[in-house]
Order: sequence, then C-alpha cells, then structure tokens
Amino acid sequence: MHFASRFVVATSHRGVESNVTPAPMSATTDLARLRVDYMRAALSERDAAADPFDQFTRWFDEAVAAAVPEPNAMTLATVDAAGHPSARIVLLKAVDARGFVFHTNYDSSKGRQLAANPRVALLFFWPELERQVRIEGAAERVSADESDAYFAQRPRASQLSAWASPQSNPVADRAWLEAELARAEARYAAEVPRPPNWGGVRVMPDRFEFWQGRASRLHDRLVWTRDGTRWMVGRLAP
Ligand SMILES: Cc1cc2nc3c(=O)[nH]c(=O)nc-3n(C[C@H](O)[C@H](O)[C@H](O)COP(=O)(O)O)c2cc1C
Repeated sequence: MHFASRFVVATSHRGVESNVTPAPMSATTDLARLRVDYMRAALSERDAAADPFDQFTRWFDEAVAAAVPEPNAMTLATVDAAGHPSARIVLLKAVDARGFVFHTNYDSSKGRQLAANPRVALLFFWPELERQVRIEGAAERVSADESDAYFAQRPRASQLSAWASPQSNPVADRAWLEAELARAEARYAAEVPRPPNWGGVRVMPDRFEFWQGRASRLHDRLVWTRDGTRWMVGRLAP
C-alpha cells in the first residue's frame, strides 16, 4: 500500500508537560502528528490548459486511470436563506462547457437552499493523485427533458427509491421507508416515471482552482476566473 507507507509520523516527543492535554493513545489517534508529504506531481502555468474545463477533463481522466474510488463524487456546499452553510456529497453525472450536473430531490434541504440562494461550491478530492479541484458558481435546474433522459437510464430500484424517499424529511423508521418502496413498486409495475420533484441541477462555474500537493507544503494552486467570455489564470500562495 504505497499510500499508507508515505505517512510521515513526526518523531519529536514533548514529554509530559501538562496534565490538561491527555496523552495520545497511539500514533493513529494523535492527529497532530498525522501528515503526508506530497511528492507525486506538479502543476505549472506552462503545462495547464487555457480552458479550465479542459484542465478538469485532463485531471478527471487521470483520476479514473489511477482507479480513484468514486472519482465523480464531489462535495456540494450550499447556503440557506439565513447564510448558514451546509455540505454533502453528490455524484457528478455530466460535464460540458455549460457546467457540472448532479441529480437530486428538489424538495430536499439542498433543493430548498438552492431555491433561496443559487451560489454553490463543488469540491473534488482525489487523494491518490494528491489533488483537489474547487469550483464556484451558480446553480440552476436542467431542462425536464434532460432530467427525464437521465432518470430513464437509472436502475429500476433507484427509480423507485426516488419515489419512496422524501429526501431530508424526518421519517418514523426504516420500516416506513420500506413500506413506501413497496407501495411505489406496486404503483409502477412497468415503467417508472420521473417524480416531478426529482431532477438535475447544473452548476455553471465562474471560478476553478486546481490544487496539486507538493513537498513541504509548497503546493501548486492555479486559479481560473472568468473575464467576460475569457478565462484568466493566476497562481495563489499555498
Ligand atoms: C458517495 C455518495 C454519493 C451521493 N450521491 C448523491 C447524489 O447524486 N444525489 C443526492 O441527492 N444525494 C447523494 N448522496 C446523498 C447526499 O450526500 C445527502 O445525504 C442527500 O442528498 C441529502 O442531503 P440534503 O439533506 O443536504 O439535501 C450521496 C452520498 C454519498 C456518500
């Protein structure tokens, strides 16, 4: 396991200095000493793509080639009407020059937050490549046709779960959910239509940051921001 073997556990020991800070149980519970030195790659202005979508495609293909588990899993951060942030994982299901698409329940917590404030952030973390990609932009629903097309290709069991689950709402117990699933199964013996409150959301980026871990915390951070129709690239301190 090359990843585990690159963990560097600091060896300095402070001795017993205080009875306020409990002694660590073991190296794995001593979070302050857990660190990885990133050595795999670099990201330079010279090698980067002019268009950040091309740069994303390049890195995404490399994440797939490196067998990163669930490379299309991304953190979606939203804010509610009171400005309170929340974050969760969703799956990227399409990307092109128009933006990044995931599918969800429009009545869920995130769906309500998006209706109140469409500004979002997306985050990919591909540890095997020592990379993260940060994206910021505005979200909007995809067309009903686009949502229908994606829903139609989901496995039947997932289609039925979309009907059975009032996502983000409290439910009595697991049995209630399973009964709802059975009811959906009975109702849609043949084809399962898309629930009207379920569909795609497209995030149209106005900022990308590509982060490549480097040795000694001197990481590479290249940022693309939109200037009208052009993308401008710059570098940030790590
Ligand atoms: C690997 C992974 C993939 C997920 N993919 C999705 C997804 O594509 N769409 C979705 O609505 N929820 C997805 N979820 C569940 C969400 O993280 C979240 O629990 C759910 O959408 C409810 O979030 P909310 O209450 O903030 O709306 C996924 C969770 C994980 C861990």
